[in-house]
Amino acid sequence: MLYSQETMDHFLNPRNVGSIPDANGVAEVGNTTCGDVMRIYLKVEDDVVQDAKFETFGCASAIATSSMTTELIKGKPVTDALKLTNKEVVNKLGGLPANKLHCSVLAEEVLKAAVADYYQRSGADVLSTEL
Ligand code: FES
Repeated sequence: MLYSQETMDHFLNPRNVGSIPDANGVAEVGNTTCGDVMRIYLKVEDDVVQDAKFETFGCASAIATSSMTTELIKGKPVTDALKLTNKEVVNKLGGLPANKLHCSVLAEEVLKAAVADYYQRSGADVLSTEL
């Protein structure tokens, strides 16, 4: 099968779809080649990701990686969210076809951008973080 069971599950039953009205970390990233777009919303309190949601207009892999990404960062320190790599997300999904790995890169990019947005809004010294 092209996609793992886990990937199919997160594609067909994506977790954390939607927006967070009072999010304090938001970002949107698009892939100019395929035209897919991901937006992620973070609600961070005391430097812990209390909630994370996403809106993805894209392929099955983009939706599955967005879903898994939000699941992996909820309840975690924002510094952990910053360190989450697309490889970890892909591993949790049980792998992706090689020609779909770029979709997971989009999820990592949008997450890092949302954390950067959080740091900027909170007035943190972004340069001293591991961006
Ligand atoms: Fe565009 Fe998957 S094909 S993100």
